[in-house]
This record gives sequence, structure tokens and C-alpha cells, in this order.
Amino acid sequence: MTVPCVRVPRTAGERTRQALAELDLVDAGHEIVHEDGRLFIPVTDPGAVPEEYETVSKALPRRETQTTPADLLAFDPSYERLGEVIIVDEDDPERARELADAVVASDIPTKTVLNRASKVQGVERVREWEVLVGEETEAVHREYGCEFALDLAAVYFSPRLATERHRVTEQVREGEQAFDMFAGVGPFAIPFANGGATVVGVDINERAVEYLRENADRNGVTDRVTAIHGDVADVATEYEGWADRVVMNLPHSAEEFVDSAVGIAGAETVIHYYDIQHEDDLFGPGERALRDAAAPGYELTVENRHTVRSYAPHEYNVVLDVRLERR
Ligand SMILES: C[S@@+](CC[C@H](N)C(=O)[O-])C[C@H]1O[C@@H](n2cnc3c(N)ncnc32)[C@H](O)[C@@H]1O
Repeated sequence: MTVPCVRVPRTAGERTRQALAELDLVDAGHEIVHEDGRLFIPVTDPGAVPEEYETVSKALPRRETQTTPADLLAFDPSYERLGEVIIVDEDDPERARELADAVVASDIPTKTVLNRASKVQGVERVREWEVLVGEETEAVHREYGCEFALDLAAVYFSPRLATERHRVTEQVREGEQAFDMFAGVGPFAIPFANGGATVVGVDINERAVEYLRENADRNGVTDRVTAIHGDVADVATEYEGWADRVVMNLPHSAEEFVDSAVGIAGAETVIHYYDIQHEDDLFGPGERALRDAAAPGYELTVENRHTVRSYAPHEYNVVLDVRLERR
């Protein structure tokens, strides 16, 4: 029986497999097959495969299935993987323990199982964790061909934003100057530099900046990434007129930094502005704040209004891509 799969040259195989895995599209029930210099990667939903990939049908061998936590539990578990660190979100201690045990008993490579013990909090947006298995809270995570080391107990990181970060990264052009105002461990900054941009990444969390430097090194882009520890409101004054692209990923508080973002902007600059808003007016507050800051020096065009994910009942994480052109 044939199954839907993506056909790519072998040289693009691992990159493509990772991109499809990020989208949760790889069909684990069939083998990936190599034939005549091309890879056939089985997919669960050909309709959801991005247009850039070629989808075909092919008979692929069934795969010896691995044991997952779901195979061992009476409930449908939800968890995220950051390398060998498994993240769960269970309020009930008994259920959390059962899930942790199932993760360990499954075939998932596991060093640590962490349960979310608080919301992200404070200026540094770091969460508290309950360690259910193991000790280490440091993970090495791969995303769209880049590798990120990070300590979840010390810095912010969310694998859920991978697709959104990739959407923005695809817009980056060789040689452009990009300024990441709230860079964390570099999940925007590093892929931007990988795409040929010269990047400045700022964070108020010193540990995040240390990881940003380490991750630039891990990904071979040290020469294109300047990592700065500090309050971006101060750092921005040293980069007036510098940026072709600005990323503002500090939902809840980005509005406080729109003047700094406009200060960094060059003659023509795209700003990616992340926000969390009520469904009644998802984009209005951000757009008004940006327009107020940009006038009178710039013409502002909203190029994209996009909902990234649901955040809470009636609240959404959204992004505005706006282009500023100096008058
Ligand atoms: C939501 S996290 C985003 C991190 C990263 N961009 C990512 O996607 O993983 C926001 C980051 O902004 C940093 N931050 C908060 N206030 C800041 C400020 N005034 N100046 C620079 N960084 C700040 C926090 O330490 C945190 O790492």
C-alpha cells in the first residue's frame, strides 16, 4: 500500500525531516527510504505539508513502532520535548508521577522530566519547575537546523514558537542588520545570522546572554552575532538608525519599548511586534502604539496581522509585521 510522503534530494533530507517534525507531520509508522539520491519522508497529512515541498505517494515499509508514553497510560498524555528534557503540565501530583514514570518506561530518550510549577514570571520571564525525574534542567534543543543550549530554570524558552520563528527567519536577507530587542538564548538571532544577517541581540537576563553567545558558537555564527547584556532601553541609544529588521518578542510589555524600536530603525525597517491581547481587539493596541511612536518621522504600513497561538480563554498571542519608511 502506498503512503503520502515528501520527496527531497538527499542533501536536504535532514533539514526537511526536522522541518516536518516541527510541524508534527512525520509519519512514525513508516520508514524513511533513500532511493537514487532522494529521500522519501512519510507524512501524516499531505494537505498540511508546506508548498515548498514535493508530495508524492510511494510504498514504504512499515516501521517497528516505538513505545510511547501514550501506549503505557490510560489517558492521552500531553508533553513537550526539548532534547532529552521532557516537559509536562500536570496539576494533579498523582497524574504527574504516572506520566513521568511512563515517559521513563517509554522509548523516548529522557534525562529529565519537569512539571510546570508556575507561569513565566518576572522581568526575565522564567518559570519555576518541579523536577519529577533526574536533576538537570539544561537542555540541548534542535529547531529548523539550529541547536540551542539552555537552562530552563534560568532562562525563558518555548518550543511552541518554532513555526513562528521560522516564518520570520524566512524573510531575512543576506547582509541585512537585525536587532533582537529581547533575544533570550537566541532562537531568532541565531537563525537570522545563519541566514546571513548581522545581528545584535540584547537581554536583561545575564544567563540568557551567556547562552546566546554559546549558541552562536555552537551554530558557527559568532562573527555575525553581538550579544549584549543590559536593558534594551539603554542599549538602543547606541544603535540609532542601525536596523533593517527589529524583533520585539516581549508580549505584555512590548508597548513600553516602541520608542526604542523606532529609534533603532533605519531608513526602511521591518518590525515584528509580539503581543498578547483579548479577542475583542487583537491588533489595535499594538498598531496604535507603533503608529504613535513612528509618526511623524516614518510612513508605517502593516504588512501582516497574524495570530500565533491561543494564550488563555479569549486571549491570543499575536504578531504584527510593520514596515517603517522614513519620510
Ligand atoms: C518572552 S522572552 C523571549 C526570548 C526569546 N526572544 C525567545 O523567543 O525565546 C523575553 C525576554 O526579554 C528579556 N527582557 C525583559 N525585559 C528586558 C529589557 N528591558 N531589556 C532587554 N531584555 C529584556 C527577558 O529576560 C526574556 O529573556
